[in-house]
Amino acid sequence: MKVEWLESLSVGVEEIDRQHKLLFDKYNDFFTAYSEGRSDEEVIRLLSFLEEYVAVHFANEERLQRLIGFPDYQKHLKQHQELTRTVAELKERFKKQGPDPSLITSTGLLMTGWLIEHISVMDRAIGRFMKEVQSRGAGEKP
Ligand SMILES: [Fe+2]
Repeated sequence: MKVEWLESLSVGVEEIDRQHKLLFDKYNDFFTAYSEGRSDEEVIRLLSFLEEYVAVHFANEERLQRLIGFPDYQKHLKQHQELTRTVAELKERFKKQGPDPSLITSTGLLMTGWLIEHISVMDRAIGRFMKEVQSRGAGEKP
């Protein structure tokens, strides 16, 4: 199944939202390639693109959290590491088994379940904290 980024998934930080949209696009490219029956190599290549972008996006988000002194950084980092591991495992299984339907379903569930849950709860907390920091900063001005 494809995933769609909706305004309700906005975390209130423009750059993070932009990256989340791109993450969904990359997953959709992968899923579309599979649905259209493109070659195994092509499907796995697109999964690798998704994996690479997950790494780039997570690194960005983690950098931002360190920058603003986000209190739940360690917990957030753990979740990122968990997803990174799961995606790497999926890719290995794809390489061994080829893109069979159960693997495609597992990848889809990861995107629609885990990632959307993570964005809605964990990433949204970053946006909330940033607003707090900004309003504190504004209050300090003469
Ligand atoms: Fe995150």
